Amino acid sequence: MKSPAFLEAGIFATPRRIVESPQPTGAPPAGGVRIVVQSTTDDAADRAAFRAGLLATPATSSPKFFYDPQGSALFTAICELDEYYPTRTEADIFERHRDEIARALPSGAQWIDLGCGDGVKARGWLEPSDARRYVGVDIAGPWLRSALDGLSASLAGGKSRLRNLEVLGVVADFTRPFDLHDVLAERPEMPPVFFYPGSSIGNFVRDDARAFLASVRDHIERHPSQRIGKLMIGIDLVKDRATLRAAYDDAVGVTAAFNRNVLRVANRLLDADFDPAAFAHRAVYDEAFGRIEMQLVSRRAQDVRIGDDVRRFEDGEVIATEYSHKYTIDGFAALLESAGFATGDRLRCWRDRLDWFGVFVTEPA
Ligand code: AVI
Repeated sequence: MKSPAFLEAGIFATPRRIVESPQPTGAPPAGGVRIVVQSTTDDAADRAAFRAGLLATPATSSPKFFYDPQGSALFTAICELDEYYPTRTEADIFERHRDEIARALPSGAQWIDLGCGDGVKARGWLEPSDARRYVGVDIAGPWLRSALDGLSASLAGGKSRLRNLEVLGVVADFTRPFDLHDVLAERPEMPPVFFYPGSSIGNFVRDDARAFLASVRDHIERHPSQRIGKLMIGIDLVKDRATLRAAYDDAVGVTAAFNRNVLRVANRLLDADFDPAAFAHRAVYDEAFGRIEMQLVSRRAQDVRIGDDVRRFEDGEVIATEYSHKYTIDGFAALLESAGFATGDRLRCWRDRLDWFGVFVTEPA
């Protein structure tokens, strides 16, 4: 199946939520976490791209528009579904191998948590790896401030070394070219550990995944620390089609609701009149590309107003809303290598018993 050009064009990265309120610009409140605003979302440009994708043939919508508050809540619910194995499988690998993985990481590091959300996944690593600084990176500035204030308060209240951990937030869209060099160089003695869990890289098309990894590698290589930094990344692995499809088309219909919610977001952001019930959720596993494609399928011929335009959807016409790429161990190692990361003995991988998910740790070649 030919991919819609827009999906291949690299606009489809996956910040965990979209921003509908202004970004912070001022100094943090007294006692609050320092927030560096590196880049802000361009709401007008995002809206224009969203609208253009829906008006195009074939129609597309970036996954980033899933994550309004409702979509974020639905994603949280997805992560708890029986069918959606990635979250719990990765958590199991973390639990079972935490000490060994921590030993593969430099101690005294600064952790860069890409798409940090509330920072809970990284939290469990800070003590075992003897981290000295936590840098949470997220596109949603206002949310980042309150999430990291909460993280900082919980650390300050504890008894461990983490009481003195420096917590910093960076508002940046790391799914586009990003530059954290100066922020990381503020602590030249702390090698960077980039943390990118949850197989979020699967939502990038492969060329964009490679470019993103190359940028991470460049940040590690150019950091002045005497000790080399690392990348730790969670990857969903290729498995049988039925398991994959069920993970994206659960029996209760949470993923369907998550997918359809993007039409509500379109109605709000683009002044459109999509009827979500008039579109069916579909998840297709494309073996050739090794990826799930989520779609919304028009249940009938219908006209939808999108701002001043009217888009005719034919019966069965598809809006492509998300790719989720799955990798083999060798395939992901090859991708890492093509982005300048080490393989062979310097690439470590921990897996669950069923080989459904892999946690990789590597460093620049
Ligand atoms: C965020 N991302 C890694 C999820 C995935 O599995 O691709 C998003 C998701 N889409 C449907 N279910 C989950």
